[in-house]
This record gives sequence, C-alpha cells and structure tokens, in this order.
Amino acid sequence: MTTWDPDHYEEFFAQRHQPGRDLMTRIDLVDPADIVDLGCGTGRLTAELALRWPDASVTGIDRSPEMIAAAARTVVDYEVGDIETWEPPGPVDLVFANASLQWIDDHPRLFPRLVAMIRPGGELAVQMPLSWDQPSHRILRSVGAEFGVEIASPPTLDPGDYHDILASHADTEVWVTTYHHVLSGENPVFRWVSATGMQRFLKRIDVDRHDDYRDECARQIATAYPPNDRGETVFPFTRLFLLARASD
Ligand SMILES: C[S@@+](CC[C@H](N)C(=O)[O-])C[C@H]1O[C@@H](n2cnc3c(N)ncnc32)[C@H](O)[C@@H]1O
Repeated sequence: MTTWDPDHYEEFFAQRHQPGRDLMTRIDLVDPADIVDLGCGTGRLTAELALRWPDASVTGIDRSPEMIAAAARTVVDYEVGDIETWEPPGPVDLVFANASLQWIDDHPRLFPRLVAMIRPGGELAVQMPLSWDQPSHRILRSVGAEFGVEIASPPTLDPGDYHDILASHADTEVWVTTYHHVLSGENPVFRWVSATGMQRFLKRIDVDRHDDYRDECARQIATAYPPNDRGETVFPFTRLFLLARASD
C-alpha cells in the first residue's frame, strides 16, 4: 500500500484540486440527501461538497489513517475504510471519487458496484489521472527499472470502455482534459511526483538507496521540465472524467 503524507500531498493543492472542482461543476443534482467521497484524502474537496450542499449528509472514506487524521479538522463525517470493500448503509445520491479509483483494480467490476450504491436519479462522479505515459512517470519507471523495480500499469481503462461497462447501468459521459499546470520553485515537477507516483517505487526500494533513486529522478525530471524565462515550469497533466447518472 502506498503511504500518504498529507503535508507533502498538500503542497500543490490548488493545482491538484482544480480537476475535482471542475468535476463538481458538472454534477447537476439539486438537493442530494447523502453524499460519499471515496478516497477523500485530506478532505478539502469533501468539505467543498458539504459547502455546496449544506443540507446533505456528507461522508469521506479513505484507507489512509494519516489522511483521515488530517481531514478530521473539517466539518464532514470521515471514516477509515477501503473502497474495495466499503458499502454505504443504504443507497446514496452522489458518489464522488477524485484521483482515487486509479489505485483500485478491476474497473469492470468496480464501476457497476459503485453505480449500484446510487439511488435512481443519483450520480457517480469520477476523475482519474492518465499520467502513465507522461515524461515524469516514464522517468519514475525507467529509473525504477535500474533499481530493480517494475510497476504494473494502472487499472484505468480506455475512456470508451467505461461507456461499455456502464451502458446497462447508467447514462454515462466521459471526457479527457489535459491541464497545463504552471508551477514555481526548484524542480517542481519532481516535488509533485515525489508526493504521489514516486511513493510506489520507494516502498519497493531499500531505504538506504532512496536518496540515489530520488537524486537520479530529480536530475532527469529537471531536464525534461526546464523552467521558462519567467522561472515557471509548465506541467501538462491529462485526466479522465466520468459522470454516470443512474436511471430513474
Ligand atoms: C491522490 S489522493 C486524492 C485525495 C482526494 N480525493 C483529493 O482529491 O485530494 C488518493 C487518495 O486515495 C486513497 N486511497 C487509495 N486507495 C484506496 C482504497 N483502496 N480505499 C480507500 N482509499 C484509498 C489514498 O489514501 C489517498 O488519500
């Protein structure tokens, strides 16, 4: 299991959360009674869901006790739980999952199970990164291979496959967007991935080799993402969005 460090993850929170905010604007539920945020992390977006629908009961679920401990300072109900097995006590109006389902295997089984949690007329709203083929993530893998670590590709399917999986369960929209995040400071793309994608490699590499792995990734990522004349580094990042409306 990947270990999450809430403070490190939060460094680029504005950029990391923009896709989740954009996803939220596409949800057209007027007055949902029950909302679940699966893989809620530090709970910033969960709190925004609660702000948008103040009368709803909002629950954030995350497998990481560290993330849940950081999230507990907001107003929502939070529980430590595993998306693979967690079930709501009854049907809900909105299941929201921002940047979490890419960690769960077997999407042909997972997505119909999530839609089955929703009342007729309710919605499943999902965002997942499609970062596997970006230079940043290719570097993590090629340097990882030099350290004897091979990582399986994420379980995320081709966008069109989600239509097929959900065709008989929900009215489904899928779209893909590439954000061009403008980052500042020293080697920011390295700092970004070291809080997320790099963790999967570090947990498979001996601790006494972590600095060597990090240093080589830092060197190659700095070359792949040089700053512009204004000192900004542009980080293109592609994401898949899905909105499934359960039939009335
Ligand atoms: C990239 S963070 C996203 C957090 C939050 N949704 C956000 O947008 O800031 C991914 C989160 O998914 C959680 N996660 C990964 N696998 C999980 C699982 N099987 N069950 C519950 N949470 C999981 C991690 O602990 C982490 O907090």
